[in-house]
Amino acid sequence: MDKKLNILFAAAEVAPFAKTGGLADVAGALPKALKKLGHHVIVVMPRYYSIATSDLQKLYEPLGVPMGVMGELWAGVYRTKLPQSDVDIYFIDYEHYFGRSGLYGDDEGSYHDNDNRFIFFSKAALQLCKMLHFTPDIIHANDWHTAALPLLSKTRFVHDFAYAASVLTIHNLQHQGHFYKGIMDILEVGWEHFNPHELESFDGVNILKGGIAQADAVTTVSQKYAQEIQTPEFGFGLDGHIRAHHSKLFGILNGVDYEEWNPMTDTYLAANYELNDMSGKGVCKKDLQEYFKLDVREDVPLIGFVGRFVEQKGIGLIATVIHGLLDHDIQIVMLGTGEKWAEHFFSEVAYFRHNCAVHIGYSNALAHQIEAGSDMFLMPSLFEPCGLNQIYSLKYGTLPIVRATGGLDDTIVNFDEHTETGNGFKFYDATNEALYHTVLWAVDVYNTKKEAFERMQRFAMQEHFSWEDSAKVYEKVYQFAWEHKRI
Ligand code: ADP
Ligand code: GLC
Repeated sequence: MDKKLNILFAAAEVAPFAKTGGLADVAGALPKALKKLGHHVIVVMPRYYSIATSDLQKLYEPLGVPMGVMGELWAGVYRTKLPQSDVDIYFIDYEHYFGRSGLYGDDEGSYHDNDNRFIFFSKAALQLCKMLHFTPDIIHANDWHTAALPLLSKTRFVHDFAYAASVLTIHNLQHQGHFYKGIMDILEVGWEHFNPHELESFDGVNILKGGIAQADAVTTVSQKYAQEIQTPEFGFGLDGHIRAHHSKLFGILNGVDYEEWNPMTDTYLAANYELNDMSGKGVCKKDLQEYFKLDVREDVPLIGFVGRFVEQKGIGLIATVIHGLLDHDIQIVMLGTGEKWAEHFFSEVAYFRHNCAVHIGYSNALAHQIEAGSDMFLMPSLFEPCGLNQIYSLKYGTLPIVRATGGLDDTIVNFDEHTETGNGFKFYDATNEALYHTVLWAVDVYNTKKEAFERMQRFAMQEHFSWEDSAKVYEKVYQFAWEHKRI
């Protein structure tokens, strides 16, 4: 694309500042790749309590945010750069909404005012542009938290943003931002948009639905998921709506930040390693076994899991088969937080079984160490828009065992017994049997077909999922949005 664009990139979480999942990884990396292509990108996110302001620059002009019947609220703004880049990131500071322990909720569940919090944030992002005299060509929203942006820019804020085209990326269709219709009076987009083709859903407001209707282009994070969300099985009630808008829907696979996820340079590891010298991987495995007080053995297949303990990730399936799997000569290491039943259940499994270890919590260092020290990586998701861990695993020569859905299906090539090629192991039905037998199949290949296993590892480690490639496709989508801009 010849024209260099002004891009506003808004997200509820951005790594390394605040992260609960892959959205943060994407929001921390894609803007940098766009910048490298010559575009002028600014990123905006909330200033959560966990983000220290000491390293940030405070802007002294206060930001007025109109909140309809609630009147105008005044926010502070901080600024810094995305690490190792020249991309400005702005933080919207409003103690009452964001000065809390969690991003979206706490042990009691989701915050009851997430509607106000993220409508406020979306409006603040637009007000920020005005304050900075930044005229976006593209407003890039991510997930339901910022999905009001396309509509806001065409209604309440049209005076200043009529020029902008909007793109909405769906990272996870399960979360749609479904609220009481009274928020229409805070949203201020006009009640005429409260209709079944835009915001209305079961007499409430569905922010993501409205965003899909109004964005000039909609993307999701793999091609397979772009197909899947048009079906009732994966559509979470919006499949019909998405089918109606399929002509502006694109699937773009996420890339990987190889500055962070690379076994050659990873500073969290006991030893680094590379394609031509894998000895460090053995050191990492030993280190992991020692850390988790498992038997230190080179020959036992070690299977890792890192992820949110939620239904999406297939934890129900794992819970059902884990005892059966642990009856075999394997080791399983798990890292995650999430649903309480799962935290208790897996902790108890680890307590009773000598060949299983579980760490409940969030630890970036441990996530890296599990990627490196494991032989295989388990990701039996029920749905997976893209999935990043399986792609990280490939770089670490840790072969993924996945369910063939969304980005898992797009990135993992099943082991072929005849040609002895592939980069992982896949199963199709979301059943206990399929998971159980696929894990044992992978274990068998590890035990009895060492050469084939090592060839797959080498193949996996050479694969490259670059943000530069993805950013070039986003450029095309921006162009599409621009050309199909709806006034
Ligand atoms: P999702 O966004 O659905 O959670 P992804 O695979 O896209 O799934 O991204 C998850 C990201 O969060 C990865 O970078 C992964 O390493 C990280 N992650 C998830 N759980 C933990 C945890 N308990 N500790 C450290 N990192 C975690
Ligand atoms: C979501 C999805 C995950 C994806 C991530 C980043 O959290 O669950 O599959 O990788 O967003 O796009």
